[in-house]
Amino acid sequence: MIKNVKKLGAPLKGEITIPSDKSISHRAVMFSSIAQGECIIRNFSSGADCHSTLNLFKKLGVDIQFLDEKTLKIISNGTLKPNIDSIYSCGNSGTTMRLVSGILAGQNFDSVLTGDDSLSKRPMKRVIEPLVLMGADISSIDGHAPLTIHGRNLKGIVYSSKLASAQVKSCILLAGLNAEGQTKVIEPSLSRNHTELMLKYLGVDIKSENNEVTIKPSRLTAKNIDIVGDISSAAFFIAAGLIVKGSDFVIKNTGLNPTRSGIIDVVRRMGGNIEIINLHTVSGEEVGDIRVQYTENMKSCCIEGADIPRLIDELPIIAVLASQAEGETIVKDAGDLRNKESDRIKCLVRELSKIGINIEEREDGFIVRGKSRGKLGGKLEDKLKGGSELECYHDHRLAMSFYVAGLICENEIAINGFEWTKISFPEFEELFSRLSL
Ligand code: S3P
Repeated sequence: MIKNVKKLGAPLKGEITIPSDKSISHRAVMFSSIAQGECIIRNFSSGADCHSTLNLFKKLGVDIQFLDEKTLKIISNGTLKPNIDSIYSCGNSGTTMRLVSGILAGQNFDSVLTGDDSLSKRPMKRVIEPLVLMGADISSIDGHAPLTIHGRNLKGIVYSSKLASAQVKSCILLAGLNAEGQTKVIEPSLSRNHTELMLKYLGVDIKSENNEVTIKPSRLTAKNIDIVGDISSAAFFIAAGLIVKGSDFVIKNTGLNPTRSGIIDVVRRMGGNIEIINLHTVSGEEVGDIRVQYTENMKSCCIEGADIPRLIDELPIIAVLASQAEGETIVKDAGDLRNKESDRIKCLVRELSKIGINIEEREDGFIVRGKSRGKLGGKLEDKLKGGSELECYHDHRLAMSFYVAGLICENEIAINGFEWTKISFPEFEELFSRLSL
């Protein structure tokens, strides 16, 4: 589907509520499916990825019912039952494939995990290697899906991960739940900790200290879970509010877990007008409302090292934001962006260049040269010309980042493949229209 986006003639105003966090929604279904008892999950994501997880656990015999569009009731005795064909689709969802591998590796049955074309190109060695060290038996197509998992008894390990990846960490911790002895994961810097928080909330013996997490084999006890709004979805609105002239609005119910809120720190470093109101905790996760206002004089910044896992999914929209800040924004240590739903470095640079953003590809990131005053000083030049058709490479976050860029382009842009936004955020456009009424 091609989406045409025109420059906004008026500021964004009002108030919106950000829908459910994708990472937490996946975990709520997975962990409640292997917990004993009955629970209600409120504000479940309507994104296609989380529905892939939900359908997979239904296929594994878990009783999951929708009480309404976003409320689930899950009843489980804590065990999974193999389906007759043993094949489970993860759709487009890397989180589903990588976390579920950890759950299935220690079962007493065999399973095959499949994915769509994009997921089948993404690297799975990062989870196969540690699981094999735990005693798992997994075959793949040279480190790619489909993954054939022969259930085995697992043993705990101490694993120093080269990547700061919550998917890798969570996979090993979930395998550790069902292994003999304790399992420890050490990360180079801390990735999102939703798994640790939710497992603790459900009664698991799990301890975190700095970048290390230790888990002991435990049973999970079902408990109701309320899912907060997704900061990765809010990021598109934060950026739009900062760059569309005259905007001033409130984004309610946004998850603000410190391992996910790198975008807030970056906006502050850039001098963006952003304010957190009403900070509180829901089902173990921090949440609050964000007021964002148009900011004319944002400055560039450097984003690297431990910043990266705290905003990994926000880097495409940060590139758009950086085009409206004065100076050079440098993103480094983000090479894993090449392994997301698309090669997000190459695709972002190729497409944003088309609309006049000065962006340069680097092996492990990119450089955006934003507004400048020219040799003689004077007024900052901030115009994006637009007028082109952008390809989103089946990548939901690229599609939404391009949409936000389109709101400030001089000429209308077209985004090819805009329907991919449904992967994480089907409500995206409708929420924009509410702010621009
Ligand atoms: C996710 C972790 C991140 C992120 C992905 C969701 C998760 O991946 O990019 O969208 O839910 O654990 P990595 O941890 O592999 O970087």
